[in-house]
Amino acid sequence: MAEKKFNRYTITAALPYANGPVHIGHLAGVYLPADIYVRYLRAMGKDVAFIGGSDEHGVAITLKAKKEGKTPQQIVDHYHELIKKSFISFGISFDIYSRTSSLKHHETASEYFHELHKKGVFEEIESQQFYDEKADQFLADRYIKGTCPTCSYVEAYGDQCEYCGSTLSPSELINPKSMLSGDVPIMKATKHWYFPLNKYENFLREYILRDHKEWKSNVSGQCKSWLDGGLRARPMTRDLNWGIKVPIKGAMGKVLYVWFDAPIGYISATQEWATEKGKNWEDYWKKDDTKLVHFIGKDNIVFHCIIFPSILKAEGSYILPDNVPANEFLNLEGNKISTSRNWAVWLHQYLTDFPDKQDVLRYVLTANAPETKDNDFTWKDFQTRNNSELVAIYGNFVNRAVVLTHKFFEGKVPEQQELQKVDEDALRALSFFPDRISDALEGFKFREALNHLIDLARLGNKYLAETQPWKLIKTDSERVATILNISLQMATSLGLLSKPFLPNTYKKLSKIFKFEEMNWRDAGCSDNLKKGVLLGPAVLLFEKIEDNVIEAQIKKLMDTKEENVAPAVKIIPVKKEINYDDFMKMDLRVGEILTAESVPKSNKLLKFIVDTGLDRRTIVSGVAKHFSPQEMVGKKVTVLLNLASRKIMGITSEGMILFAENEDGSLKFVAPDATAINGAEIS
Ligand code: 2FM
Ligand code: ZN
Repeated sequence: MAEKKFNRYTITAALPYANGPVHIGHLAGVYLPADIYVRYLRAMGKDVAFIGGSDEHGVAITLKAKKEGKTPQQIVDHYHELIKKSFISFGISFDIYSRTSSLKHHETASEYFHELHKKGVFEEIESQQFYDEKADQFLADRYIKGTCPTCSYVEAYGDQCEYCGSTLSPSELINPKSMLSGDVPIMKATKHWYFPLNKYENFLREYILRDHKEWKSNVSGQCKSWLDGGLRARPMTRDLNWGIKVPIKGAMGKVLYVWFDAPIGYISATQEWATEKGKNWEDYWKKDDTKLVHFIGKDNIVFHCIIFPSILKAEGSYILPDNVPANEFLNLEGNKISTSRNWAVWLHQYLTDFPDKQDVLRYVLTANAPETKDNDFTWKDFQTRNNSELVAIYGNFVNRAVVLTHKFFEGKVPEQQELQKVDEDALRALSFFPDRISDALEGFKFREALNHLIDLARLGNKYLAETQPWKLIKTDSERVATILNISLQMATSLGLLSKPFLPNTYKKLSKIFKFEEMNWRDAGCSDNLKKGVLLGPAVLLFEKIEDNVIEAQIKKLMDTKEENVAPAVKIIPVKKEINYDDFMKMDLRVGEILTAESVPKSNKLLKFIVDTGLDRRTIVSGVAKHFSPQEMVGKKVTVLLNLASRKIMGITSEGMILFAENEDGSLKFVAPDATAINGAEIS
């Protein structure tokens, strides 16, 4: 199939909740790749709308307001400004950074909802939901805590267990408690408007699995598992008094849910921007030759690949996302970044500690971006990348080329004379860089693109090391002229190609090499800098970061570290002491798995029939991601027999099979010797 030609680009970056500042995880996962992509498109002369804004609705904001004795509006006003400022400081070059509390957005989202309602798209469904009587509020899944049915972590949220990563629904939690009052929530009937995702399954399968095979595997994998798990109608409204009121009769006290509200924020912000710029917003959302790309983190994949496209399709006149290059998560010094536990490097704080070093962080976070798997940010790596790559490779090369030109040719670009093989090789190698970096960027491989960039600086250093112009100046100044001319061409190209990644460095280099007028493709040429051009003075591009600076950052983190930081790699402290009697309360036996099968509509549960020596019983276990049913059959296992039975997805589970969890999260059998007899007591 011929590659589609696009004449316009609508690029969005997930709207961050305005209930806290932004940190390096946000930057690495979403905003940097989006900005690099956009800056690249602009450098290629493309028509781009880069859309962002704050998500100012949701229950988290109301709770924060309550806690701080403020109104939700005061909270979002404060954080919207702080977030916006951080983005500006880091050069995230949004064409508009709007907010979902704006009148324009309220109108747009309301109209959209109304339109779909008129078309009869929604299903009105009454259901029983958790309700906190004391707080007089229905509870969002996040505000119910209990014991995880998969790993028994006692602090699991109603939507997810942060310990084992399982996606949950509150009804799966064991001993659920409201986080608002601490009481056990009751179930209460409430009516909501549901979007029937199930009716969109065929469309979604074709759209994602057939038409967008190029999507990143972490993205299509998550989509496929949702599709295979069976789609069901999802509520688009919530019981809350903060947000966009549901614009129909009988919906008092209800607002639009984030799944509906936030992505339409992209549309309303585009409208706002288009009005300011005298453009037609519909070109950016409704024309087939517009490429729509959403930059998000992995927690928003389903939202942008399944739900939002279906909402767009239901309306009918919109284009669909062409790509959703979601990233995984960035950890910090081996632990999950956590806002509530203050385990983060906040962008506004980084700027105080490292003024004018935005490009260093941009570089490190891109070099180490969590593109295909979760990655770890460490201050040591930050220092190493700064000192051994930016200073020793990039800065060193540019500096040598410029300083030598000032020294030997009064700062004027010398003339290229006869070329030798080493020069031709260097220029040939140079010519490949723009396309190489373009290909990586267009495939959303930002780490690879940045690697190529630093390789160009390496090439420059290698060339200087091979030709050693400083040794030849006394004997062969013509040769030195050629070498420095070529070095300067390479440094110019390096500067030009740095534009998407390191905007401040680009600016500094553009002052030295005066290359404002040149474009991306020029960067492969060997004659960008004309003979006789007077170079600007050499400036310090990057400086060494000393150990004490890094140690201070690590200390600061350690000081704020609280006991309860959720480990990215499980380091489980020894549990509270128990006595022998406590241990003997557990009836542990040798068992054997007789049958194993998947549980319908669940991608994590397996159902087993286990021969315990005493009986054959059903045990449900959250291990489907680790084992196939086939490989389980016939295994000898350790079974906890006297665990109170409980219902999981409608199946009564009587007992627990024990597994050992390795550091990487993989599960292993705790297997008795094959000769142990079923029912033998383990003690
Ligand atoms: O998950 C979040 O952070 C929400 N604020 C939604 C972000 S994506 C959206 F903007 F569509
Ligand atoms: Zn868990």
